[in-house]
Amino acid sequence: MKIACLAGDGIGPEIMAEAKKVLAALDIAGIETADADVGGVAYRNHGHPLPPETLELCKAADAVLFGAVGDPACDNLERHLRPEQAILGLRQALTLFANLRPATMFAGLEDMSALRPEVARQIDLLIVRELNGDVYFGEKAIRTLPDGRRQGFDLMSYAEDEVRRIAHVAFRAAQGRGKRLCSVDKANVLETSQLWRDVVIEVSAEYPDVELSHMYVDNAAMQLVRNPGQFDVVVTGNLFGDILSDQASMCVGSIGLLASASLGETQTAFGTKGLYEPIHGSAPDIAGQGKANPMAMILSLAMLLRHSLGLDAQAARVEAAVAKALADGVKGADLGGSANCAEIGDAVVARL
Ligand code: NAD
Ligand code: IPM
Ligand code: MN
Repeated sequence: MKIACLAGDGIGPEIMAEAKKVLAALDIAGIETADADVGGVAYRNHGHPLPPETLELCKAADAVLFGAVGDPACDNLERHLRPEQAILGLRQALTLFANLRPATMFAGLEDMSALRPEVARQIDLLIVRELNGDVYFGEKAIRTLPDGRRQGFDLMSYAEDEVRRIAHVAFRAAQGRGKRLCSVDKANVLETSQLWRDVVIEVSAEYPDVELSHMYVDNAAMQLVRNPGQFDVVVTGNLFGDILSDQASMCVGSIGLLASASLGETQTAFGTKGLYEPIHGSAPDIAGQGKANPMAMILSLAMLLRHSLGLDAQAARVEAAVAKALADGVKGADLGGSANCAEIGDAVVARL
């Protein structure tokens, strides 16, 4: 079993080192890792944020462990050369359309949530974010209108099959959890969302055991901080899911805690190719200072073990070790503590 490790930029290498430490400590027979450049570092070393050799390595691997990309020094490059294009390119090239972003309250962190402890304690939700469509991948440009004004545009669109496949993933996820699914859209304004809602309702006929509800995204943003305990599984489009998942992270205490799995069609089968990454970015403001919380990265490794390698027990072991470390007060600066990145990784290893 081969895991491609793409550390990337900023805090990416720091948190990747801790995830690898955990993987090594698990001592699972038959796993090999291979590193490759991605993002700004790949642009500097190879002239492209997603060099062909990196893409080939990912295609040949059983799973991809991804740190983060993004470098302020690259923000003025032509868009196709910017670090962020690497992660978008991987999601597209590997058809990773289903992004699972769980947010659960860890014991001992209630006081770190941006919400009141009694509200935060209820959080146990899963955001299923569509990852291959929406404004992200539509036609886009900054063009000059006939009268000389510049106009920027990004086409928002979803084809029905794109909605149908993510809806199936979300309904199946709900069947495995609390059997409630909330579809988040903006159907009161957007035609894209109207089609989204229509298709989700069609798909729901195949899942009579799942209770389906719909919510407009503005209300969802409000409800997520008012009463996040009401949500079980949330399914939404690429852009809304991006925003709501960052918001959910502060509801549980830190963006340094939220992991994700990006999966394709056969998402639960053993051997499925998948990409696993924290939901946060390269955090240039704290890079190189040992201040990054590697837990989101380590929990992403746990998702990799479960979803791509079928190693459920090992995944649970990693998750339990992270929970124990937090319960024991092992916290980085993001959670009001003083442990550095390597110390957090060591603390997780010690609790495996
Ligand atoms: P960010 O998530 O990198 O950082 C936002 C804030 O959260 C910062 O203050 C940062 O210090 C903090 N933070 C993030 N992760 C942390 C961790 N593990 N521990 C402690 N604190 C943490 O978002 P941004 O600042 O908007 O973006 C920075 C760069 O990252 C940009 O270039 C952006 O495009 C990129 N980005 C990449 C990904 C990805 O690789 N998937 C995701 C998001 C953003
Ligand atoms: C994320 C990031 C990416 C996204 C960026 C870096 C392209 O914010 O993974 O959440 O918007 O999907
Ligand atoms: Mn994001």
